[in-house]
Amino acid sequence: MTTLLISADSNLDDWMDAWREAAPHRPVVCHGRAPYDPAAIQYALTWKPPAGALNALPNLKVAFNLGAGVDAVMADPTFPSHIPLVRLVDQDLTNRMGEWVVLQVLTHFRQTLGYLELQRTKTWRDLTQPAARSARVGLMGYGTLARHCTPILRGLGFNVHGWARGPKESDITLHHGEEGLANFLARTDILVCLLPLTEATRGILDAKLIGQLSRGTPVGPVLINAGRGGLQNEADILAALQDGTLKGASLDVFNEEPLPATSPMWDAPNLIITPHVAAITDPASAVGNIVEQIDAFEAGAPLQNVVDRGHGY
Ligand SMILES: NC(=O)c1ccc[n+]([C@@H]2O[C@H](COP(=O)([O-])OP(=O)(O)OC[C@H]3O[C@@H](n4cnc5c(N)ncnc54)[C@H](OP(=O)(O)O)[C@@H]3O)[C@@H](O)[C@H]2O)c1
Repeated sequence: MTTLLISADSNLDDWMDAWREAAPHRPVVCHGRAPYDPAAIQYALTWKPPAGALNALPNLKVAFNLGAGVDAVMADPTFPSHIPLVRLVDQDLTNRMGEWVVLQVLTHFRQTLGYLELQRTKTWRDLTQPAARSARVGLMGYGTLARHCTPILRGLGFNVHGWARGPKESDITLHHGEEGLANFLARTDILVCLLPLTEATRGILDAKLIGQLSRGTPVGPVLINAGRGGLQNEADILAALQDGTLKGASLDVFNEEPLPATSPMWDAPNLIITPHVAAITDPASAVGNIVEQIDAFEAGAPLQNVVDRGHGY
C-alpha cells in the first residue's frame, strides 16, 4: 500500500511532510531520494513525471496529479491507459486562481498600468473609466476554476459569459464548441483563458482569435491567460499589443518556462507577466483531498475528477 511521490517540483519535503501528517498510517516514498520496490507502489502523487516512470509501476492503481492541468502526464505515451489519472480539484488552488483572475481583470479595466506611467512623470490626469456593467468578461474554458470566478466578477458588476466544449446548464450564457466560438468572442471585451492544453486547444490564442474580440469598451480588448503557454501564439500576442489590436494582456504561462531573458515578451507594451504562479498547489490542502479520495476508493466509492483520456483533460 505504498504511495510514491514523483514530482519535478523542488518542494518535495513539503509534500512528504504533508503526506505523513495527513496519512501517518500510509507509507510514502519519494522518487529519486532512496531506492524503492516498484511492485509495492499502489498510488502515485505526480507532477511532470519523467516519461516512462509511471509505466514502471506494475501494481499502480491510481495516479493523482498534483495540479489541475494534466498535459504533462498526457504527453507521456507510455502512461498505461487502464490506470485512472485523477486531476487536482482543490478549494485552496481554486481560490488562488480567483484572486489572480480578478486582479488582472481589474488591473486592466481600471487602467493601472496607465496610471503607473502617469505617476512616473508626476502627471495628475484621469483616464477613461467605463462602468463595469458595460464590459463583458468571457471565460474561455468553463470548468472548476472559471466557475469560481463568475460570482466574484458578477459581484463587481461585470457581464460574464463562458465558452466550453459541450453544452451544460448554467446561470450565465454559455457558448460551446467550435460553432459557438465566434459568437462568444464577438461578445467578449476581456477574455480570460482557463482552458486545459489538449490537441484541440493548442495554439488557440492566435491572431485570428484576437481579431474576433469585441471592441465594445475603450479599455478592451484584453487577453488574460492562466491556462497553459501552449494555448498561445506569443508572436501574435506581441504583434497585437504593439499595434493596439489588444489594449492589454496578462500572461501567467508561456511556451517556454522560465520565459527566456531574450524573449521580446518582456518588453511588450501593456503586458503583465507572472511566472506561472496564478494558482500554485498548497501541499497540505491538496494531500488532504487525495487521502480522502483514497480512503473512499478503498471503501468502494468511485474516484472523482478522473481525466477523460479521449478528451485529454
Ligand atoms: N497558471 C496556473 O497556475 C494554473 C493553475 C491551475 C490550473 N491551470 C490551468 O487551468 C486549466 C483549467 O483548470 P480547471 O480545473 O478549470 O479545468 P476543468 O474543470 O477540467 O475545465 C476545463 C474547461 O475547459 C473546457 N474545454 C476543454 N477543451 C475544450 C475545447 N476543445 N473547446 C472548448 N472548451 C474546452 C471544458 O469544457 P467542458 O465543460 O465542456 O468539459 C471545461 O469547461 C488547467 O487545465 C490548467 O492548465 C493553471
